[in-house]
Amino acid sequence: MTTPVDQVSALAGAQGSADWPLMDNYGARSRTMVRGEGVYLFDAEGKQYLDFTAGIAVCALGHSHPELARAVAEQAHTLIHCSNLYLIPQQVELARKLTALSGLDKAFFCNSGAEANEAAIKLARRYAWSRGETKRTRIVSLPGGFHGRTLGALSITPKPAYQEGFHPLIPDCFTPESLSAVVDAIDERTAACVVEVIQGEGGVRPVPQDLLRDIAARCREQGALLIVDEVQTGVGRTGTFFAFEQVGLKPDIVALAKGLAGGVPAGAVLARAEIAQALTPGSHGSTFGGNPLAMAAGNVVVDIVRQPAFLAHVRQVGAYLASRLRPLVAELTGAGLMWGFSVPDARAFVARAAEAGVLLTAIGEHRVRMVPPLILEEAHVDEMVARLQRAGLL
Ligand SMILES: Cc1ncc(COP(=O)(O)O)c(C=O)c1O
Repeated sequence: MTTPVDQVSALAGAQGSADWPLMDNYGARSRTMVRGEGVYLFDAEGKQYLDFTAGIAVCALGHSHPELARAVAEQAHTLIHCSNLYLIPQQVELARKLTALSGLDKAFFCNSGAEANEAAIKLARRYAWSRGETKRTRIVSLPGGFHGRTLGALSITPKPAYQEGFHPLIPDCFTPESLSAVVDAIDERTAACVVEVIQGEGGVRPVPQDLLRDIAARCREQGALLIVDEVQTGVGRTGTFFAFEQVGLKPDIVALAKGLAGGVPAGAVLARAEIAQALTPGSHGSTFGGNPLAMAAGNVVVDIVRQPAFLAHVRQVGAYLASRLRPLVAELTGAGLMWGFSVPDARAFVARAAEAGVLLTAIGEHRVRMVPPLILEEAHVDEMVARLQRAGLL
């Protein structure tokens, strides 16, 4: 009997051809992953990989985590979805946890990072509008930033290759040419400035702490909001629940997604109460956002990740990972379990690493990123280094 996996493998050669049913936006994929266990993924041929991508910084608890799997299965047997026409208790529970952790007051749930940033942009504009500041519409973002692919999120993602062919983007989004020009770009027309503490898609590049501090001060001075995009850095990825905790920022709005529900699609926007009140009934929404299935998963992930011992583990294994890599690679930057380094040809490096049984991601031409599951152990780090060394990559 032909299984679906066999069918996909048989069709693999046809990717991109006229009769291939998927759009070509991801290009051709050479591997088909069919199973995951802890920090390992297995492809359709049964080959085992050490997963240092975690679904691009998503699978915080690794794959097939028993508690997460149980909660998702139980919720699926009880109620997957009912819409926000009805109160969803698991949303209230997760909102309480996230507001307590962030020091913010209110949460809105959506399904992805782009949607979280989209909602954050809308919230910032709507807040200014609700105060009668109708000319305060500008959203300032940082060179090297990445905030997602919806038209709004793309408008604050200043990468020509991503924006090409999609103009006109949404009006009044501005990214200066250089980081040093960001502070001056924030003025009385600015609704919000959006920052990442560590620019993930930008190459795992930490934004200098004094610049973040100056941006926050300028926002306060000019009456603009500070949005911290924690889509990639949040939910323990950098060794604290939020990366902003490590740099002393006090955001007005936080965008979250990726790790939040461990792989079940979920995003969130957190905000101060005064700002959140701008979203009056009917002003924003999402059919799927915060549904019982996603919230059941999110509550399990957050309950585990917020434990001080779990976060200490991320810091400890992260420090070990950095200590093993630092002598072997160039320009290693990052924190916790989010690291990037430079190579001459990132795509070739990642392809050879996969051959050697280590999954990594290339960001741009020269940067390689490691964002493994947060349950990673030091022994996995040793195994990863050994596999890459055997392949002549380190
Ligand atoms: C910082 C940041 N913001 C937003 C996004 C977009 O998230 P999503 O792909 O879930 O829309 C990403 C994705 O890589 C990200 O790293």
